[in-house]
Amino acid sequence: VYRHAAEASRAVAEQIAALIRERASQGRACVLGLATGSTPTGVYAELVRMHQDEGLSFQNVVTFNLDEYFPMQPEGLQSYVRFMREHLFDHVDILAENAHVPDGALDEREVAEYCRQYEAKIAAAGGVDLQLLGVGRTGHIGFNEPGSGKTSRTRLITLDRVTRRDAASDFFGEENVPQRAITMGVGTILDARQVVLMAFGEGKAGIVKQAVEGPISTIVAASFLQEHPNAQFVLDEAAADALT
Ligand code: F6R
Repeated sequence: VYRHAAEASRAVAEQIAALIRERASQGRACVLGLATGSTPTGVYAELVRMHQDEGLSFQNVVTFNLDEYFPMQPEGLQSYVRFMREHLFDHVDILAENAHVPDGALDEREVAEYCRQYEAKIAAAGGVDLQLLGVGRTGHIGFNEPGSGKTSRTRLITLDRVTRRDAASDFFGEENVPQRAITMGVGTILDARQVVLMAFGEGKAGIVKQAVEGPISTIVAASFLQEHPNAQFVLDEAAADALT
């Protein structure tokens, strides 16, 4: 628990940078699972700063984003492809072919096969070393809404009403928020060797408590992280406020 989000973000960025450098010194790739949304923006800003000021290179980094709205064109205003370019990819030396974000512009008939291939690409890269997560007010990690099972894999999912309401301002009205998204599954996330979930602000305090101290259940996907051997919750004081 950190006093402020900025401090917490710097600590997580340090951890990621250390992993990237360690892998680079071994001549190995570093595979990162990445999240979008407001929570990780401070981490990305700090990683960009480290690239610019300290020469942190992303040439050995391979990334897989958690999710994307469906349907969504990559150049769409709310697209997670655009988000990742604006916050990270366009500002560091990551190779374009190493940065993966689920494709929201597919024909629906192609999605199931595409999701299988997304999983296969993660496996071919050697699996995710560190998965960065935020948490939604429904307890979702990625877009694994209530009902998502522990063994769920990358797939098309229907977004919860609460999630669509929370995204309403980004889309200029709830009615414009897509009904669905492509997301890595809970099982996909649990396969990462290390998981770092970040949550900031009083609005997350209730769901953080349920995820950390509540029963492990499909009602709160983040609660499955209790069973992960190397999962960290990185919080500011406000998000930690309801913990006992
Ligand atoms: C985003 C994602 C979501 C968000 C969550 C919290 O890629 O997978 O699970 O992390 O909805 O969003 P923010 O950070 O905007 O509160």
